[in-house]
Amino acid sequence: MSNVVNRAISFINSRTPATITSKKIDLDHCFKDTEIVVKIHAASLNPIDLMVHNFSWRLPFNSHPKTFSRDYAGVIVKVGSKVDSKWKVDDRVVGCFFHVYGEQGTLSDYLILNPNEQKAIAHIHDTTKQDPKYDPFILNASWPLVFGTAYTALFDYNQRLGPDSKILVIGASTSVSYALVHIAKKTLNVGTVVGICSSQSFEYNRAAGFDHLVPYDQGPITEEVGKLLVGNLKNEKFDLIFDSVGNKDFFPVIEKFLKPKSENSYYISIAGDNKLNFNGHPFGATSIRSLLRSANPFKGYNYSLEVLPCKQEYMDLGVKLITEGKYAPKIDSVYDFNDYQKAMDRLKSNRAKGKVVMKINGGR
Ligand SMILES: NC(=O)c1ccc[n+]([C@@H]2O[C@H](COP(=O)([O-])OP(=O)(O)OC[C@H]3O[C@@H](n4cnc5c(N)ncnc54)[C@H](OP(=O)(O)O)[C@@H]3O)[C@@H](O)[C@H]2O)c1
Repeated sequence: MSNVVNRAISFINSRTPATITSKKIDLDHCFKDTEIVVKIHAASLNPIDLMVHNFSWRLPFNSHPKTFSRDYAGVIVKVGSKVDSKWKVDDRVVGCFFHVYGEQGTLSDYLILNPNEQKAIAHIHDTTKQDPKYDPFILNASWPLVFGTAYTALFDYNQRLGPDSKILVIGASTSVSYALVHIAKKTLNVGTVVGICSSQSFEYNRAAGFDHLVPYDQGPITEEVGKLLVGNLKNEKFDLIFDSVGNKDFFPVIEKFLKPKSENSYYISIAGDNKLNFNGHPFGATSIRSLLRSANPFKGYNYSLEVLPCKQEYMDLGVKLITEGKYAPKIDSVYDFNDYQKAMDRLKSNRAKGKVVMKINGGR
């Protein structure tokens, strides 16, 4: 028997606060033949982690502890006898663990998973050359979910984006958009990526790779983007409008901005029609309107409310771009495990520039 204590940051429902719970697990017997056990060294927070907590109702069947978070980086400490031989003890791995109100999440010491089902997992390569400020676990825990979301928007809609393409990003400063501009520029060589952000974030987003920036705090965004369209963009419309904050301003005038549907143009939103409140929950009138729009066969444009799929591809591309020095995930702040409330408050502030990461076992 090899008993260890597994700490986890958990909640029961929206009325119970996040707390640290501890449970003993027997590392020799806690996994199936098809599973691995990962000792987590770092994990990051995403808005969805906080929003699902706020949405968790107090109901009799809902009284089990639910662990926060999805992104993780750590070391494999146990491997089941039927697991693919590419996963070995002592391998360093990064991934996004998919769960809805699971007893297991990634703000914990150990994670038990079947890599054939939890496919968003990859080996970590040495990243210390790319960003010596952070150890590889901290750096890697910061990117899977946001990178996967950006990848899905760019690759999974049968668009052929390339040097002649134009993308408009609503919410240029978000971590998802930071990943999106890197994939668009470094992998697809997209010619023009325009970002909408606060005027204070221009420098940050210029450094990230946006070609043009439009402020959302100095007048209606449709007018500001309209000026850019008739000016620098020579009236060439966008192939893709990607919304990473929640906005509906372009819909009444969409034909002025988005290329025709026949050219396979897309409006993809990951947040719905209104700015998502990280202190609230994700399922409001805004998402119902977005779902109705997705389902409406008579609309004159392609629209999708994207949900991140669990896939291997974006993990492989993320590791490749990081190793080649083409994508350096942006980290806003790093917190110790016990300071989880401070980490959550930082994310809730909605002013984070990059990811909020938590050290769990070691890490600089
Ligand atoms: N559907 C999915 O699968 C999926 C996946 C991932 C994320 N999401 C959603 O996508 C959104 C972004 O997530 P994230 O983790 O990338 O966020 P994040 O990094 O925490 O975004 C923070 C940034 O948002 C910007 N911002 C705040 N208010 C804004 C506004 N009104 N308009 C434009 N920008 C604003 C701020 O920069 P400024 O200085 O520019 O204001 C801030 O730096 C969240 O709502 C999240 O729930 C959905």
